Amino acid sequence: MSAKAKEHAARAALSYVEAGMTLGLGSGSTAEIFVELLGLVVDEGLSVRGIASSEQTADLARHVGVPLIDIEQADHIHLTVDGADEVGPEFAMIKGGGGRLLREKIIANASDLGVCIVDESKLVDVLGAYPLPVEVDPFGYTITAKKVFDVLVAAGCATPVMEQRYADDGKAPFITDGGNYIFDCTCTAIPRVRQVAAKLSAVPGVVEHGIFLDLVRVVIVGTDDGADILEL
Ligand code: 5RP
Repeated sequence: MSAKAKEHAARAALSYVEAGMTLGLGSGSTAEIFVELLGLVVDEGLSVRGIASSEQTADLARHVGVPLIDIEQADHIHLTVDGADEVGPEFAMIKGGGGRLLREKIIANASDLGVCIVDESKLVDVLGAYPLPVEVDPFGYTITAKKVFDVLVAAGCATPVMEQRYADDGKAPFITDGGNYIFDCTCTAIPRVRQVAAKLSAVPGVVEHGIFLDLVRVVIVGTDDGADILEL
């Protein structure tokens, strides 16, 4: 994804922002560009407040001057702008490449409107080429991972390959903001995505998974020349 395409998508998302809004702020490089641009319009006088989906986004928001509130203080989230790893039919998505899927999903689910900012490379006919992140509680995680594998096989994912995510130094497991582990599940294709999502959610020990359904009504696809706005 070119930096220009990301910026075009992020800039186009600003047109959904209105004074007085409480905004869910996503995570990842595209969402971060949005936060940076938001900081500029806040600097010019726009009054909004943000709820960050990760510590990293919170740090950036503070740095660029976007006022933040704790999610517990919010009775309403008007709009969430976030990136995605894959966007498929009906705007079903895989998210969580950055490991922030739990907070991202909580915020998206609480929002009046979800806007997703991506480039064309993220648009797919069938989800699953991108490894699906599944966040699991550390207690009993080996057992939980086996159950996740069984769900994926039963749902028709040919030969899922599951790998526990490690921190960048490769020495210790990656720990999410919520204190959990992540398994990245390479499925090649997830044929019945709604069924898989429901079955994964039903596995004890699965805290959350990266299949996002019905959480976005607008997808902004950035290109080197501009941005296309797709609406459901
Ligand atoms: C983080 C996410 C991100 O939105 C997703 O990984 C896309 O990131 P980027 O904009 O850097 O491609 O879900 O958990």
